[in-house]
Amino acid sequence: MIVTIDGPAGSGKSSVAKIVAERLSAAFLDSGAMYRAVTLAAMDEGTNLEDQAALLAVLEGKDFNFDITGGRMVVSIDGIDATESIRRLDVTENVKYIARAPMIRSKLVEIQRQFAREHEIIVTEGRDLGTVVFPDAKFKFFLVADPAERARRRHAELAEKGTDIDIAKLEEDIRLRDASDIEREHSPLLKADDAIEIDTTPLDLPGVVEKILFYVSRKA
Ligand code: C5P
Repeated sequence: MIVTIDGPAGSGKSSVAKIVAERLSAAFLDSGAMYRAVTLAAMDEGTNLEDQAALLAVLEGKDFNFDITGGRMVVSIDGIDATESIRRLDVTENVKYIARAPMIRSKLVEIQRQFAREHEIIVTEGRDLGTVVFPDAKFKFFLVADPAERARRRHAELAEKGTDIDIAKLEEDIRLRDASDIEREHSPLLKADDAIEIDTTPLDLPGVVEKILFYVSRKA
């Protein structure tokens, strides 16, 4: 059984997907972490991020590990923990180069499908899980939220970690990332025809989780 949760940056996918996975005793797959890990590895190698063959060499030459430990995805590159560093702002800014490279995408999609074969139930989140990676998934959700609200959430999240970034700058970053995810040629951010759209703007985290679990229990 596969549950896909797609949507733009900051729509709450990640937090929601983790809890839904826990509640369904499912394995959790954060596909964005994979794009981030390749980005970080390429940056560390000084790779030209526009050179697809060079990016592919990074993906194939390094040992990427995506393990679930205590319900969260732990990422390592050549044995070094990268769970936190893949969230760095400079990685977020550069991930678009990796996300628009079809050769990288097809390799990562293969890993994602392999992950699904290895687990009985998975909850997975990203941009193209319901459209490209798992078009036959039984449960598909597409989360959206107002950009201003997404910026407010991101601001609160960062403030909790002791970082204060101007909320207008965060909203601008969100709009730019949306544009690059929606406009890219390969596997753009898109709602699958059969996905259930949930606007999370007026909802809190438990509210979104309950909505998803309600739909899943109704159709299971
Ligand atoms: O979800 P997260 O913000 O961690 O994803 C980082 C980036 O990876 C996204 O902005 C997007 O460009 C890319 N991505 C993607 N396809 C996915 C998941 C993430 O292109 N399935």
